[in-house]
Amino acid sequence: MSNVLSVLKERVSANNFDFTKTISEADIKEIVSYATEAPSSFNIQHWRFVAVNDKAVQEKLKAAAYNQKKVADCSVTFVIFGDVNGVDKLALAYEPMLKAGAMDKATFDGMLGMANGMYKGNAQGCRDEAIRSGSLAAMNLMIAAQAKGFISAPMIGFDPAAVSKLLGAPANLVPVIMISVGHAAPGNWPRKPRFSTDKVLSFNSYKESF
Ligand SMILES: Cc1cc2nc3c(=O)[nH]c(=O)nc-3n(C[C@H](O)[C@H](O)[C@H](O)COP(=O)(O)O)c2cc1C
Repeated sequence: MSNVLSVLKERVSANNFDFTKTISEADIKEIVSYATEAPSSFNIQHWRFVAVNDKAVQEKLKAAAYNQKKVADCSVTFVIFGDVNGVDKLALAYEPMLKAGAMDKATFDGMLGMANGMYKGNAQGCRDEAIRSGSLAAMNLMIAAQAKGFISAPMIGFDPAAVSKLLGAPANLVPVIMISVGHAAPGNWPRKPRFSTDKVLSFNSYKESF
C-alpha cells in the first residue's frame, strides 16, 4: 500500500490524460469507497458521486465545463454533489449502529435532535456543510486515485446548472467539484510550489505574514 505522505507530495492537477486508456468499474468503485471514508458533520455523508465514463456523456460534460479537454480525455470524470437536505437522511446513517448495539436509542434520538437543531431552517449552514463534506470526499478521492497509480484533475470551471441538468441531479444536490481521473499522458506540469509553512502557520494566535 502506498505511503499517504508520499502520495500527498506526488499528486498534481493534471491536464494531459491518455484518452485511449480506461479504468475498470471495480477500480472506480474502490476509489469512491475510499472517498466515502472522509469525515462529515454528524456522519451525514452529504456526498453523492456520478462517475461519467461513457465518452458521449463525457463530451457533453466537457461542453458544460467550458470545453476543458481533460473532462473527455480522461478515463472517468467524477462529479461530486453535496446534498443540502443531507440531515434528513441521518437516521439511515445511524440505523446500522443502532441495530449492532453500538449506539443506544437515547443516543440515536439525541444525535438526531442535535443535528436537526443545527441544520433545520439553516439554509446557509446546510449548503456550507454539503460543500464541506463533498470537498473532504473529493480530496480523499484524489489521494486514493493517486495511490492506485492514476492521475487526477479537480475542476470548478463548469456551469453548475448545465451539469446538474445533464446528469439528472435533483435540486437538493449542489455540484461541489468535478474530478477527472485517468492515466498520465506526457507533458503534465511538475508540482507547483506552495507558500512556506512558516508563512501560513501561526501558533496560538493569528500572525499576519502576507
Ligand atoms: C476548487 C478547485 C477548482 C479548480 N478548478 C480548476 C479548473 O476548472 N480547471 C483547471 O484546469 N484546474 C482547476 N483546478 C486546479 C488548480 O489550478 C490546482 O489545484 C492548483 O493550481 C494547484 O496545483 P496542484 O493541484 O497541481 O498542486 C482547481 C482546483 C481546485 C481545488
